[in-house]
Amino acid sequence: MAEKLGTHPHDKHYLDYYDIMSNVLRLAIVDPDDTTREAIKSMLLGMDMIWLEAECSRYEFFSDVVAQTNPDIGLVVIDSHKDKALNLITSVSESSPECAILVVSGSSDGNLILQAIRAGAKEFLTQPLHVEELLGALGRISERRFGRSDASKPRGSQVIAVAGSTGGVGTTSVAVNLACAMAKEEVNSVALVDLDLCLGDADVQLDTIPEYTLVDVAQNVSRLDFSLLKRSLTKHSSGVYLLPRPVQLEDVSLITPENVQRVLGLMKASFSHLIVDLSKSYSPVDIAALKLASDILMVTQLDLPCLRNMVRLMASFKEMEGVVDKVKVVVNRAGLENGQITLKKAQETIGKDIFWQLPNDYRTMIEVRNNGIPLCEQAPKAAITHSIASLSEVLMGRELTGSVASGAKKLGRLFSFLPSKGEK
Ligand SMILES: Nc1ncnc2c1ncn2[C@@H]1O[C@H](COP(=O)(O)OP(=O)(O)O)[C@@H](O)[C@H]1O
Ligand SMILES: [Mg+2]
Repeated sequence: MAEKLGTHPHDKHYLDYYDIMSNVLRLAIVDPDDTTREAIKSMLLGMDMIWLEAECSRYEFFSDVVAQTNPDIGLVVIDSHKDKALNLITSVSESSPECAILVVSGSSDGNLILQAIRAGAKEFLTQPLHVEELLGALGRISERRFGRSDASKPRGSQVIAVAGSTGGVGTTSVAVNLACAMAKEEVNSVALVDLDLCLGDADVQLDTIPEYTLVDVAQNVSRLDFSLLKRSLTKHSSGVYLLPRPVQLEDVSLITPENVQRVLGLMKASFSHLIVDLSKSYSPVDIAALKLASDILMVTQLDLPCLRNMVRLMASFKEMEGVVDKVKVVVNRAGLENGQITLKKAQETIGKDIFWQLPNDYRTMIEVRNNGIPLCEQAPKAAITHSIASLSEVLMGRELTGSVASGAKKLGRLFSFLPSKGEK
């Protein structure tokens, strides 16, 4: 892998290069107790504002860890040995005053809190940790470090997981072309992650031969920094950064839900939009992405097998906290006349509104696929291209305007013959 550029967020070069992610806090944690450390780690891994820089299981070594890695936050769980931990806080706050110390303890004893604050701690949280309290403390540290967040800067990242109701339904086509449509806007930085670990073909659709794949990044995630990450991705001429599936089948098992979560967490800090193309196996890796996503596009067609799968999938999603509410149903190949079920019937069956319809355009889609050129380059005037562009606008929270709106209107006409109301 390439060499590191600058690894510290305060390094000038680093900031210029990754301006967009300057509000990420790098954190090092020390806790001799594996159970609580793991629990806190898994909470932190889901937070896009946090990059877990280092972890340590001995109070004695933590000063050195902080000196070497220069984190913004040192999280110290003090319960294993309060005196050692308090001494550590004193020494870290003297030797690394830039590092804000956040103390976590099972005790809420006022005396202990006072001692920790006197030793130099900036925040004190009691176990079991609540996400909101942790976020509150991190937010205060972030504010002290970076000032109030500037509203003109992009805040957070939108993660769009694209899943499908059966193989060949158009998941990858939607993911790839949506990513390209989003990347057309200069303010956006867009990455496409292929999580169809065995059979993914996002790289083929973009006609790229990537140097690194998800397995390289996943295996190195604990020592990856932003510059290394960006150089591990392949930049397509559309502006989309691609992270493809592993080349070798045997590498698939090296990719765990936990490291996918970390990779996506790091990427969230680096890109304004992450599009994740899922497999149809709904594996723990796919589920990790669904949980992390801000929106889930469920691509389906209007036939019986697809809708039956949709019903089953939605039932399972309901068991996963927050997942079902993020689902947006996208009907692909609308207008295809092979025993299609009406939209109304489909909505009733799935129990969700149809969020979007993409027209059937076999000829264009096959060209796009065979040439490895995205829709916006290969067929900029096609109805399907306009429809994807409008979908991208709507997902970015925009009102449809100008040419995009007229494209959408054209689509409206295109769909006016579809049996959207009543029976077919
Ligand atoms: N709107 C569409 N109209 C016609 N063909 C389509 C459309 N969307 C996708 N296809 C075609 O369907 C096939 C499967 O698409 P793909 O995106 O690979 O599906 P998946 O990722 O769900 O397996 C491809 O040949 C693709 O060109
Ligand atoms: Mg696919």
